[in-house]
Order: sequence, then C-alpha cells, then structure tokens
Amino acid sequence: MPAPQFPPLKNDLILRAARGEKTERAPVWIMRQAGRYLPEFREVRKSHEFFEVCRTPALAKEITLQPIRRYTGLIDASIIFSDILVIPQAMGMEVLMNPGPHFPEPLETPADVEKLTKVVDVNKELGYVFEAITQTRVALDGEVPLIGFVGAPWTLFAYMIEGGGSKTFQKAKTWIFKYPEESKALLMRIADVCVDFLVGQVKAGAQLLQIFDSWAGELSPHDFGIFSLPTLVHISTNVRSKLAAENIPVPPMTLFAKGANYALASLADSAGYDTLGLDWQVDPAEARRVTGGKVALQGNMDPNLLYGGRDAIESAVKRMCASFAVDGGPKAWIANLGHGITPGVDPEDVRWFFECVRKYSARS
Ligand code: CP3
Repeated sequence: MPAPQFPPLKNDLILRAARGEKTERAPVWIMRQAGRYLPEFREVRKSHEFFEVCRTPALAKEITLQPIRRYTGLIDASIIFSDILVIPQAMGMEVLMNPGPHFPEPLETPADVEKLTKVVDVNKELGYVFEAITQTRVALDGEVPLIGFVGAPWTLFAYMIEGGGSKTFQKAKTWIFKYPEESKALLMRIADVCVDFLVGQVKAGAQLLQIFDSWAGELSPHDFGIFSLPTLVHISTNVRSKLAAENIPVPPMTLFAKGANYALASLADSAGYDTLGLDWQVDPAEARRVTGGKVALQGNMDPNLLYGGRDAIESAVKRMCASFAVDGGPKAWIANLGHGITPGVDPEDVRWFFECVRKYSARS
C-alpha cells in the first residue's frame, strides 16, 4: 500500500517542543479534549454508541475535529478519537461502555488467556482506527499535528482482569503476585499488540504517539520496575526499530505514567521516550530537576482547577508557565492538564485556559 499523501503542516510547535527545543510559546492541548464537556460531542453521542463512534472513521474524524474547530488557532495538537480499550477488543474480549468500561467476561485465571486471539492482525482488527487517522489527517489540512495513542500494557492488563475500573486493583494484583510469570507473559503479549498498533498508526498518518499508563501509580516503585517498565521499554524500542526498518521517520513518543512520579528519573534515563507526561502531583521544577533536561515534559495543571473560575485558572496557568520555564521561556515543554478533562467543565473556561497559556508562556 503506498504511503498516503497529506497536506503540509502549518503548526509544528508541539513537534519542536517534543524534540527539546525552545519555543516562542508553549504548545498546548488537553487530554480528552474531544469529550463529554463539549455539547457538540454529546449531540453525536445521542444517536451513536461509544464504540460505534470509534469504529466509524467519519464519526471519529468529526469528533476529533470538534475541539480544533471550536478553539481555532488556540490549540496546537489533535488526538484521534478512540479508546485504549480497543486493544482488549482486538485480542478477542468483549468491552462495553455504560457509562464506564465493563468487560462481561474478564480474565479470571491464567487458563483464560487461552481464550485470547493467538496472533492479532492489527490491520484486520484495528484497521478502522488507521482509516480514521488517515481521514482525520487529511481533514486537518495541516492545521495541527495528529496524535495517535495506546494504553500501556499494565493499564490494559488491569482492565482485562478487573473487568472495569477498580479502587483496590485486588484482582490484577492477585495475578501479578500469585502468577508473576504468567502475568509477565500476558503483559508482553499486550505490548506486542501495542507495537504493531502504534506502527500502523504512524503509517496511517499519526505525527506523535502517546502511551497512557493511567494506573502506573497503583504499583510500588519495585513492582512498576517488574510489571510495567519492561513493557514500556519494549514498546519504545520496537516501534523505533520497526519504523526504521521500513525507512519511516519515527515521530516523537510521549509516555504518561500517571502516579509514577517516583520513576521520573529512571524513565528519563532509559525508557526511550522523547516526552514524559506529568500528573498534577509533581512540581514542574522538581520534575525538570530529576529528569535533568534529558526529555521534554508535558502537563500538568490539576484538571479540577477548570472548575475554579477564571481567576483561579489564570493564576494556576501563570504559576505553571513560570515553573516550567527554562532561561526565561518555554523549552521542551508541552502545556496540558495533569489528567483528562472531566465532563462538567464549561467549554468557555477551557478557552480561557488556552488563552492564559498563550499569554503567560510567551517568550518575552
Ligand atoms: O483524549 C481524547 O480526546 C482522545 C480520546 C480518548 C478517549 N479515551 C475517549 C473517551 C483517549 C485518549 C482515551 C484514553 C483512555 N480511555 C484512558 C487513558 C487516559 C486516562 O484518562 O487515564 C483510559 C483509562 C480510558 C478508559 C475509559 N474510557 C474510561 C475509564 C472511560 C469512562 C470514564 C470517562 O472518562 O468518561 C472511557 C470512556 C471515554 N473515552 C469517553 C471518551 C470521550 C467518554 C465516554 C462517553 O462518550 O460516554
């Protein structure tokens, strides 16, 4: 299949920041920027079920573009509308969204792994995401880069075993401590699907990649090193080598390991990512110090500050911009929230957030 041709990119701010460069202002986007806080999103969801939207490229494209249209010129990246749970689906599991994720038949014991699809053909199982990426990249007309993503193996493993969200992670923890070898094997199986899926997303048109390890913070530092980190290294190493083998340029890769701030120094040293995403529990200057300029940083305003009104948002953004600044301005920094935006936020307060980032991050 020949590589698709795309319109030239007009705004490469986020790519420059991810490469560690100084920028004239900080690029900004927000996690879950296409989501329930937008009335235009809720409108589409009235007549289409969540995974139906994910599986219909024209709808996924439309929703991806909603925040780009609403905040024209204020937002520096788009992220393809999909979900991390499309990988468990591709591996043969049923996943419903009502309103949170629900797996009717989670993995109960290692014997259940036999039920998963042996060899996952991502083109067959996840081709709809590739098609959505290609259509969206064309429709973006080069306004901003398009981010592709996957869930990290530990986070996906936890969903596949817990069968949904969890407060205690008792079932997933039972697996890793009772069946450590079987757990590691399953985690690596998931990692291999992540690699093929990310490579496919780049071929389809993704210009930056993000790995979401949303539940990294549930592991102790020791167990993160055993059950998550090796899979994250496997992904970065193999995505890079597989793309290089086909002479395809490797896009910047971001790792968002939520709650794993204890691991920032080692992730910066050796995980193989260009950018580390930060949650709001870490002070930006401290994150900069421990990562020693080896990686770019992304984040990290508490998403709930968006409920605090204009003054609270403005002073938090001002503080964030000052705290991330290097030599009097933004360098190797992508402004974002410290986790996804939540449904009750007023879209006009989001506009204010973008405007404040633009104002306070500008290099004087
Ligand atoms: O960021 C974006 O705008 C792109 C799309 C995107 C979604 N999910 C759409 C979505 C992305 C990048 C995700 C990632 C995702 N999905 C993560 C990792 C990021 C994180 O927040 O930690 C996780 C853990 C999931 C799993 C998931 N999907 C949950 C727990 C839920 C329900 C709770 C919630 O946040 O709404 C979803 C549903 C989901 N995924 C929605 C959206 C817009 C809302 C569902 C709806 O339309 O009813």
